[in-house]
Amino acid sequence: MGATGSLPLIRDAGPDDLPAILRITNDAIENTDALWITTPFTLEQRRQWFEDRLAQGYPVLVAVDPAGAVAGYGAYGAFRSFEGYARTVEHSVYVSPDHQRRGIGRSLLRALIDHAKSAGFHVMVAGITADNAASVAMHHGFGFRNCGTLPQVGRKRGRWLDLLFMTLCLDDLPTVEKDFS
Ligand SMILES: CC(C)(COP(=O)(O)OP(=O)(O)OC[C@H]1O[C@@H](n2cnc3c(N)ncnc32)[C@H](O)[C@@H]1OP(=O)(O)O)[C@@H](O)C(=O)NCCC(=O)NCCS
Repeated sequence: MGATGSLPLIRDAGPDDLPAILRITNDAIENTDALWITTPFTLEQRRQWFEDRLAQGYPVLVAVDPAGAVAGYGAYGAFRSFEGYARTVEHSVYVSPDHQRRGIGRSLLRALIDHAKSAGFHVMVAGITADNAASVAMHHGFGFRNCGTLPQVGRKRGRWLDLLFMTLCLDDLPTVEKDFS
């Protein structure tokens, strides 16, 4: 996938973007409850994740600010590995704190939705910490629907966390398809 706009530029991530992706991810790990991880990733772990996503044919996109800096990234991958889930993907979007509230998260999410539609996926799933108001509002803006909350399935920084699932249907395929595969 190539560029989809000029401000911010959304493009496929490359290996040179991994230090910025690592920095943005680790900031979210250390300073937010968006990721239920407490130990920061290493560059090697992010490289492995990136290579795995590409090898499986999934996108990793970055948003680049006018100065050329990576301001955020978005990606999607398998929701679950069993073949019955093959047309469902789960995505994530992260924007560096100094670039938030400038439309970058929205641009990344729009690009991920467009990519997943083009790739023929049926449903996108967001698993969101239930009190992450920014992410919930951003997803509602694209028509994602609340599909249920799993109370207290996570714990971080001394408190229980609820997991909200939001989904977006990407096509209008009927419930029963004649030539379903
Ligand atoms: C959630 C996140 C990706 C949003 O990215 P962003 O670039 O700041 O968001 P945008 O400027 O594109 O805003 C898009 C919409 O999101 C919502 N939003 C964004 N920040 C918000 C905030 N602080 N409070 C409430 N709503 C907010 C709004 O609906 C906004 O639309 P509006 O500007 O028309 O009101 C960003 O805050 C982030 O990376 N947070 C930390 C990591 C995280 O939570 N990732 C999501 C994991 S599921």
